[in-house]
Amino acid sequence: AEVHKHEFIIQETPVKRLCNTHNIITVNGQFPGPTIEVKEGDTLVINVVNQAKYNVTIHWHGIRQKRTAWADGPEFVTQCPVKPGESYKYRFTIEGQEGTLWWHAHSSWLRATVYGALIIYPRGNNSYPFEKPSREVPVLLGEWWNANPIDVINEAQRTGAAPNVSDALTINGQPGDLFNCSSDDTITIPVKAGEITLFRFINSALNTEMFVSIANHKMIVVGADASYTKPFTTSSIMIAPGQTTDVLVTMDQAIASYYIAARAYASAQGVAFDNTTTTAILEYDCGCTTKHGPGGIPPIFPSLPAFNDTNTATAFTTSLRSPSKVKIPEPVDEDLFFTIGLGLLNCPGKKCGGPNGTRFAASMNNFSFVLPSEVSILQAHQYGLEGVFTTDFPAKPPVQFDYTAQNISQALYQPVKSTKVYPLKFGSVVQLVLQGTNIVAGENHPIHIHGYDFYILAEGFGNFDPKKDTAKFNLVDPPMRNTVGVPVNGWAVIRFVADNPGVWLMHCHLDVHITWGLAMAFLVDNGVGELESLEPPPIDYPVC
Ligand code: C2O
Repeated sequence: AEVHKHEFIIQETPVKRLCNTHNIITVNGQFPGPTIEVKEGDTLVINVVNQAKYNVTIHWHGIRQKRTAWADGPEFVTQCPVKPGESYKYRFTIEGQEGTLWWHAHSSWLRATVYGALIIYPRGNNSYPFEKPSREVPVLLGEWWNANPIDVINEAQRTGAAPNVSDALTINGQPGDLFNCSSDDTITIPVKAGEITLFRFINSALNTEMFVSIANHKMIVVGADASYTKPFTTSSIMIAPGQTTDVLVTMDQAIASYYIAARAYASAQGVAFDNTTTTAILEYDCGCTTKHGPGGIPPIFPSLPAFNDTNTATAFTTSLRSPSKVKIPEPVDEDLFFTIGLGLLNCPGKKCGGPNGTRFAASMNNFSFVLPSEVSILQAHQYGLEGVFTTDFPAKPPVQFDYTAQNISQALYQPVKSTKVYPLKFGSVVQLVLQGTNIVAGENHPIHIHGYDFYILAEGFGNFDPKKDTAKFNLVDPPMRNTVGVPVNGWAVIRFVADNPGVWLMHCHLDVHITWGLAMAFLVDNGVGELESLEPPPIDYPVC
């Protein structure tokens, strides 16, 4: 196993998109940021040097961080931010994970531009559990904002209104040639007839779930969130922010060039979204084909599912399976039920910009999560600081939500702001029902847990009913992921072993929702107030 050292300079960089040049925050001047490539078992040491004007932290999305919770990254959860002019070395080892992950800023909305791929190859001479591809191409799906994304969210927080949506979706940082001034910069992916390419799709957008298709080419799905999956063939994928999907494509169409195109899966009715389409071009090297650009024959465009095509989205996610029979953790020690969704808060004495003068909020079990501001939860726990958080996050919702009820309790519209964690005994088996609500609007929420992968046992629509839905659990080959899209107006059930000591944020990966409080944290320790076998914090661990 190797130790890889990297330096990430967080800096302001002029970047031109959609006919204008703006300063954005980048890593090492690159947008998207650098790709990190490692083998399973390797150690990463990444020195983050903050030369920008904002506080920043970096999160290694999907990395288990076993015993290294200090390196996980979410601001005020596992660390204080790295202030302008300061630096912090993230140090962690990749254990038992292979495939596609990514890294991103975890402060305010900085991850709009501060993100990149993190590729984990099998160790030594180990190979993939599928045919070796001739090439591998990371495809980072993102959003471009003409305004500064930090200003966009700060303004929305000031008024209580929903923030503006992005101005373009992007592939590897480029909107593509359906946009003005973008055609010269459209990402072109060279391919050879007969070869197999492994595409590593990563949805790094702040707020947009996406459908992706490649014209005239079938995709064979082989992995998701750095877990291998049983191969299956599809003409489109649905990928939510936070998720990754690995697909094999055989280049068997050398008579033209083809678009890879992505656009929103917008599950919420009446909620604004970025309805642009981003493209990249597959270009065969046969010399026989079309060229894009002036005078050329345009590439062939794929058919993409409609924006609101929940059937296709659900059919895709429920087709994922583990490659073979897995050992499901049993018996369940912690049987949890969390409602997730939106809400509204009153604005006493003034009118806010949300519906009827309210301000938007979001919650889990009706608690809207507030980050501490003076110290991280992990530090507060480890050093025994009182008054930073409480350990009474409820195992069940205090007020029951019901799709069939005639009148929905007003309490469900008004979440309570707090900083609550749910304590888990080290080693316990956790089953969690995530029940989406339709308060304000129903929506597919991609729920991500830091520090863990989990099995998705089942998902469905309407109310989760323990009597009949337990029978639907896949206890044979459920997929393992780190981010589950809880279906719009529906539920998902996940299971995992709490075998990683630390404080682990769980949140909706739509950043607008995490800003509004759709989050909580698990505190995993040995039950006697001491984190089991957590390594001590590094000497340069930031202080607030
Ligand atoms: Cu990918 Cu808490 O994040």
